Amino acid sequence: MSPRNSATQWGSLSKTFHWLIVLLLIGQGILGLTMGDFPRETRVELIGLHKSIGITILMLAIARLLWTLFSGRPSPAPGVTPLQHKLAMAGHVLLYVLLFALPISGWLLTSYADRPSSWFGLFELPRLVGENHDLHEMLEERHEQLFWLLTLVAVGHAGAAVYHHLFQRDATLSRMLPKGWLRDPRS
Ligand code: HEM
Ligand code: HEM
Repeated sequence: MSPRNSATQWGSLSKTFHWLIVLLLIGQGILGLTMGDFPRETRVELIGLHKSIGITILMLAIARLLWTLFSGRPSPAPGVTPLQHKLAMAGHVLLYVLLFALPISGWLLTSYADRPSSWFGLFELPRLVGENHDLHEMLEERHEQLFWLLTLVAVGHAGAAVYHHLFQRDATLSRMLPKGWLRDPRS
């Protein structure tokens, strides 16, 4: 299986980026929503982990976007209508925007709180802005809202993929999964 995308297939690298980011986002969301409930010392460690995973997601999103621009995207699977293709593209653009906006809002909110952050203890994250209590509070809210917006768009996106497989019976979902996991309904 080629790492590059072809005119009809997603390559292994795009699939790896896609599913790795999905798994990290699920873990990151659960961590974000629960880390505040732990006792102080554990909480501080979990928030550190949350920041490191968040920055990892940002780096993966950048790498993935560059890879997609370099490697191209397959044409829509046979059977996908032009309107569905347009809607899917709009959804993908929105998902990319949120994949960037969410970790950047997290990075900004910690910078406004003037708290030191590192990436798994290996290097310090530069502070993007100076301390500002009001903007910190405002961004805490935005960070959470962006998370729920991403969840909503991702559920719609996943629902559309399952619809393509079950009802429209085309290869949209099977060709994004590892080879052999799901049969192309038209083959
Ligand atoms: C795509 C990546 C990310 C996701 C999905 C995510 C998700 C979340 C969620 C769901 C919460 C809980 C919100 C709440 O209940 O108030 C949260 C809180 C938080 N996140 Fe993230 N986050 C991401 C990236 C980041 C990054 C990169 C940083 C910092 C470098 C960060 C810093 C924080 C902090 C400090 C909190 C606690 C805010 C508070 O005290 O209310 N996050 N995040
Ligand atoms: C947070 C979760 C998710 C995010 C952020 C996300 C993001 C994306 C993005 C940006 C693309 C465009 C491909 C690219 O440019 O690399 C894509 C494609 C795709 N995603 Fe997701 N995705 C998520 C979850 C899911 C889930 C759960 C499923 C399946 C149930 C799924 C199925 C697909 C399929 C089938 C494609 C290919 C669509 C096509 O060929 O046009 N995604 N996803």
